[in-house]
Amino acid sequence: MKRIGIIGTGSIGRVHARHAARVGLPVVAAWDPKPTAVEAFRAEQPGVQVEPSIERLLARTDIDGVVVAVPNDLHEPLAVQSLQAGKHVLLEKPMATSVAACDRIIAASKSAGRVVQMGFVCRRMPAVEMAHRLERDGRMGRIYHVKASMYRRRGVPGLGGWFTTKARSGGGPLIDLGVHLLDAALHLMGHPKVLRASGAIYSTFGKRMEHYAHTNMWAGPPDFKGTCDVEDHVTALLRCEGGATIELNATWAMNVPDNALPDGLAIFGEAGGCQFGLQDRKLTLATESIGVPADLSPHFVADDPMQQGWDAQSRAFKQLLEQGGEPVATATQGRAVQAAIDAIYRSAAEQCEVAVS
Ligand SMILES: NC(=O)c1ccc[n+]([C@@H]2O[C@H](COP(=O)([O-])OP(=O)(O)OC[C@H]3O[C@@H](n4cnc5c(N)ncnc54)[C@H](O)[C@@H]3O)[C@@H](O)[C@H]2O)c1
Repeated sequence: MKRIGIIGTGSIGRVHARHAARVGLPVVAAWDPKPTAVEAFRAEQPGVQVEPSIERLLARTDIDGVVVAVPNDLHEPLAVQSLQAGKHVLLEKPMATSVAACDRIIAASKSAGRVVQMGFVCRRMPAVEMAHRLERDGRMGRIYHVKASMYRRRGVPGLGGWFTTKARSGGGPLIDLGVHLLDAALHLMGHPKVLRASGAIYSTFGKRMEHYAHTNMWAGPPDFKGTCDVEDHVTALLRCEGGATIELNATWAMNVPDNALPDGLAIFGEAGGCQFGLQDRKLTLATESIGVPADLSPHFVADDPMQQGWDAQSRAFKQLLEQGGEPVATATQGRAVQAAIDAIYRSAAEQCEVAVS
């Protein structure tokens, strides 16, 4: 039986541990330098050995893979260290904070002969999977445009902490939320090469942190003495090989009424298209039949889309460890998303369209 360890027992490390256990992939060891994170993990997973160092965790011969669930700047060093120790890696999003760092992870994966599965959990949500099935079945025809959006009115994660410190996170909602949106869009489009990017970023709320009206948010309440040097809104247009485009909007905070703007993906296909939130339970394909507009509403199970997506991701990692092969979300795909993100930041700084590296 294959077993795994968890590196980083913070909020999402604990989610990984729960879902691995649910799908029959035993978590037997963990490591986190923060005592409060270890304590919270131990309370949920009393049977898991928390090791005194990452070296001790990676030296364990009963572990085949690890989940790397640490702040973004540590994805590269800890993924590389894990691969070099002979472990397969389920790596949280974003892959890293630069394309160069992604390349170093890919090089480490190749030389160690170990695999990286990207933590692109949103593409495993039932509505996204159904859209993918419709696309593969030819129901959409050529997808020529995707509008990908995530809007939060007050949703800066841990304002003042690592999420809002560029040196640690690599950026704001573009790298935090945009990564999910871009991956899901590219996945549905069949992973075309992104050629050019034009983007603008805005830092409105972080600059006047003490006036930010906080509501409950991931990573806790604001630390007004902390750092916020990242954007809180991004808008971008990406041009792909073959002429298709992606319009991206990702927002942590804005003064627009709740639910005024639809979240998720709008797919414009020559034969059919749809608009849905990533966690939606239903999906309607707008198409034509017998010469008139027609809607197709396929049945699929989506009782708890979030839970199903996380279970599917853990199940895929289990299968990868047991049977080998290609991961469902590859490091190459993680790099492609990072390349688009890097180009959007460059375009925003240079105030013009730029080539994607
Ligand atoms: N897939 C998703 O939907 C999703 C959601 C939230 C966060 N994330 C990603 O998960 C990662 C972690 O986010 P989070 O919200 O859990 O953050 P978090 O701050 O709650 O947890 C991060 C943990 O990493 C630990 N850590 C720091 N340095 C470490 C080291 N050298 N070795 C081991 N552990 C170390 C910290 O002590 C902390 O407990 C980020 O990359 C984030 O982008 C993904």
